[in-house]
Amino acid sequence: MRQGRIEKTVEVGGDKSISHRALMFSALAKGSTKIKNFLTASDTLVTLGALRRLGVRIEKRKEEVIVSSTGRLVFGGRYLNMGESGTSMRLLAGILAAAKVEVILKAAPSLQRRPMSRITIPLRQMQANIFGRRRNGVEYPPLVIRAVKSLRAIDYRMPQASAQVKSAIIFAALKAKGRTYIHQPFISRDHTERMLKVFGGRIRKKGKLIEVEPSLLKTPQEIFIPADFSSAAYFLALALLRPKTCLRVKRVGVNPTRSGLLRVLKRMGAKLRIKNRNSRYFEPYADIEAESSSLKGVVVKEEEIPLLIDELPLVFVLAAFASSSSRIYGLRELRVKETDRIHSLECNLKNMGVEFKVFSYRNRRGEEDFYVEIKGGGFKKFAQIRSFSDHRTAMSMAIGVGAQGRKVEIDDWHCVGKSFPDFREKIKEILGPHIF
Ligand code: S3P
Repeated sequence: MRQGRIEKTVEVGGDKSISHRALMFSALAKGSTKIKNFLTASDTLVTLGALRRLGVRIEKRKEEVIVSSTGRLVFGGRYLNMGESGTSMRLLAGILAAAKVEVILKAAPSLQRRPMSRITIPLRQMQANIFGRRRNGVEYPPLVIRAVKSLRAIDYRMPQASAQVKSAIIFAALKAKGRTYIHQPFISRDHTERMLKVFGGRIRKKGKLIEVEPSLLKTPQEIFIPADFSSAAYFLALALLRPKTCLRVKRVGVNPTRSGLLRVLKRMGAKLRIKNRNSRYFEPYADIEAESSSLKGVVVKEEEIPLLIDELPLVFVLAAFASSSSRIYGLRELRVKETDRIHSLECNLKNMGVEFKVFSYRNRRGEEDFYVEIKGGGFKKFAQIRSFSDHRTAMSMAIGVGAQGRKVEIDDWHCVGKSFPDFREKIKEILGPHIF
């Protein structure tokens, strides 16, 4: 199909992970904090609603949010509903375990399937009274949290490289007696650590080790949230895959613990340019430009995975269009995202005629892990996309199809509201209204 030239500048909403944390830290600090470029999406609104019910005053005017707090959370109800937001549930659990409140954190069905032992185990070691519903030895939502007198610091070796788990422990550590040590198997996104410093918290990093001391937080009064790297990534991929296309995404967060995709894309031969970099701010940001490129296959190693965890569905789609095969290792965490993303992408890519193979292996820590091999060469046929009710599966596949100039057909768009409610509008602005 012949496609015309496209050169455009795109703006996407504020970073989802940073938006959650900006609300949480502002709620824990006494005084008033203005949050600029907040992401309005169903996940971040869960955190916002929960904090309001915990006695925090939050005014929202479009993308500007003003949080006024006494620094103490109070709760008179019984349940707080976390909807589908894993970040809200895991991070708030760390905060609430230390907050001397009694609460049950409920979840929508998709979140009820996601494991919570990864946070309840370390939080209980800190003397928190927190329990999930146990099935086959693993705890799941709802989480019951009861007040305890005080928490104590721990020295904890995390079994998985997870920013959510690390953040839950850091939040609890702020109220625990003593210095908490967190050993990460690999580095994961460090938005919590960076923001904690901005709020005056006592935290130190030495490679993969984090040390946190109890801290009284002080508001910096204003926080600016850069554009979401994961949302920007869809447009970068669209530009790379579509002929005669150049797209620039503005003020995108380029924190190196979050933007591992850029390094993988470079290895694939992507034409990318980083411009107007601003590193003075606690979260660096830049404009990123991507241009149609001939991509080659790539090998992605286990330790890179946490740095691009949410972009893996997109990496699979990009690999499907490479001129040679790709291998991506260390994928076990993908099994416990909004859906099993190895399965959702395998199913969708196979429907498009792509050769996609999944292998299990023992990783260096002796755990069962998975890698995939993707043959490349492009989609051989087109079928309706199955979202599996997962925003990132839906958007990544939509980019693969849309870049070929094909109409994007999908079973359900509802899920994209989790992180990127105006995804379709933005894509239409670039590719035209016929695309959906
Ligand atoms: C997130 C961490 C990641 C990521 C999720 C958001 C965060 O999860 O997949 O979308 O904001 O801390 P894990 O910590 O489970 O890897």
